[in-house]
Amino acid sequence: MHLFHYQNARLHCEATDLQTLAEKHGTPLYVYSKGTITSHFQRLDEALAPLNHLICYAVKANSNLAVLSTIAKLGGGFDIVSGGELFRVIKAGGDPAKCTFAGVGKTRAEIEYALQQGIYCFNAESEAELRYINLVAGELGKKAPVAVRVNPNVDAKTHAKITTGKSENKFGIDFDQILDVYDRVARECPNLVIKGLQMHIGSQLTNVDPFVEAVRKVVPLVEQIKAEHRIEFFSIGGGIGINYRQSLDSGPATWWEENPEAHPLTLKTYAEAIVPQLQPLGLRILCEPGRFMVGNAGVLLTQVLYEKRGSAKTFKIVDAGMNDLIRPTLYEGWHQIVPLKQPASAALEKVDVVGPICESGDFLAQNRDLPPVAGGDYLAVLSAGAYGFTMASNYNTRPMPAEILVEGSTARVVRGRQTLEDVLKGETP
Ligand code: LLP
Repeated sequence: MHLFHYQNARLHCEATDLQTLAEKHGTPLYVYSKGTITSHFQRLDEALAPLNHLICYAVKANSNLAVLSTIAKLGGGFDIVSGGELFRVIKAGGDPAKCTFAGVGKTRAEIEYALQQGIYCFNAESEAELRYINLVAGELGKKAPVAVRVNPNVDAKTHAKITTGKSENKFGIDFDQILDVYDRVARECPNLVIKGLQMHIGSQLTNVDPFVEAVRKVVPLVEQIKAEHRIEFFSIGGGIGINYRQSLDSGPATWWEENPEAHPLTLKTYAEAIVPQLQPLGLRILCEPGRFMVGNAGVLLTQVLYEKRGSAKTFKIVDAGMNDLIRPTLYEGWHQIVPLKQPASAALEKVDVVGPICESGDFLAQNRDLPPVAGGDYLAVLSAGAYGFTMASNYNTRPMPAEILVEGSTARVVRGRQTLEDVLKGETP
C-alpha cells in the first residue's frame, strides 16, 4: 500500500502537494510518507501476531534517522550490518537490545562497539568470524550473543545480484556444516552464548514458494539445534518483495494487499504459508524486512532539464542521476515514473529518462512510455524509498539530495541537501 495519489490533478504524498515541495526544496529530492511506513509495520506485525515475534527492520534499505525513529517508536528492532548503522539506530532512539548484527565482514572495532552497546545478537556468517567474536568478547570480559546464518541453498528466483541463499553466494554457512559448527563453538568458544539461527535467501521475492521451501528445509535443523543448544530465536530474514508497478488511480487504498492478482506475494499469502510451520517451534521468530517497510513509502522527485530528439531515441534529461538512484542501472530495476501534474490527455511517447552523469548507464528508465513532458516539468520516480538514498553517492561531485518526511499535510526536512563544502569536507589540495 502507499499514500501517493493525484488530488486536483497534482501528485500528493498523504495531504502534501509534491510540486510545492519540489519548488521549495529543489530537486533531486527524496520524499517519504510516514503513514505508509507506519501502516506497513503494523500490517506485518498483525500478520505475525500468532507468533512470539520481533520485526528487525533492515536499516540498509533506508537509514534516515527519522525513518529509524518512526520504526523504533512502533516497537521495532533493527537488523544492522555495520557499526555505522548501529550508531544511527542509537541516535534515532532505537534499542540496541533489539538489534541483530549481520554481515560477512565485521571488524574488531564493530564487534567491540556492538558488545559495549549490548546488542541482541551477532548473526555470524563463518566459523572464523565466530571464533573472532569469541576472542574479542573474551578480551573485553564479556559474553557475546551469537546466531549463525544458515545458507539453505534455495533459489529465491530473484535478480542475481540480490540472491543470497545459494551455495555459490558468500553468505552464511552451508546447511550441511551447521550442526558441526554449533557443536564446535559450544565446546571451544567459552565467551559465546548461542542464541539462535538465522537465514535470508534474497531480496525482492514476489513469490512465496522460495520462502516456504527454505522454512520447510530449515525448521528441522532449528528443532535439532533447539534441543541441543537451547536457542531462543529463529530469524527468517527479510526479502518480501514489493510491487514496483503500483496504481496511482486507485488512490491511497490498500489495493495490492487485497488483490493477489496485482501482486503475487501478499502479506496474507506470506503469513498463511509460513506462520503454521513456525508456530510449533515455540521460539521467538525474527523477521528482517527492509524494502517491504519503506520501498513504496518513498519517491524521488526530479526536474526535466532538457529534451533531446536523436535519430534512435528521445531523451528526457533530468536532474537526478544514477548517483541518486542506482537501482535501474545496477539491477535493471524498473521504477514507475509519473509527472507531478497529472497529464490532461492519455498521449504517451517512448523516451529514455536519463541523468546528467557521464556514463551511458546513467538512466532512470529506458524505452518508457511517458506522457509528454517538457523542460521545467517535474517527475516522480516511485517506489524509491528502499535502497535509494542509502545507495546514493557523490559521483561526479554531485551533492546528496535532501530528504523529507511527510506526515499528513506536514513536511519535515529530515536531511538537508549537501552543499559543495559538505562534499569536499576533509579533503586537502
Ligand atoms: N536481512 C539480511 C541479512 C539482508 O542481507 C537483507 C538485504 C535484508 C534482511 C533485507 O532484505 P529486504 O527485505 O530489503 O529484501 N540493494 C538491493 C537490495 C539488497 C538487499 C541486501 N540485503 C536493491 O536495491 O534491490
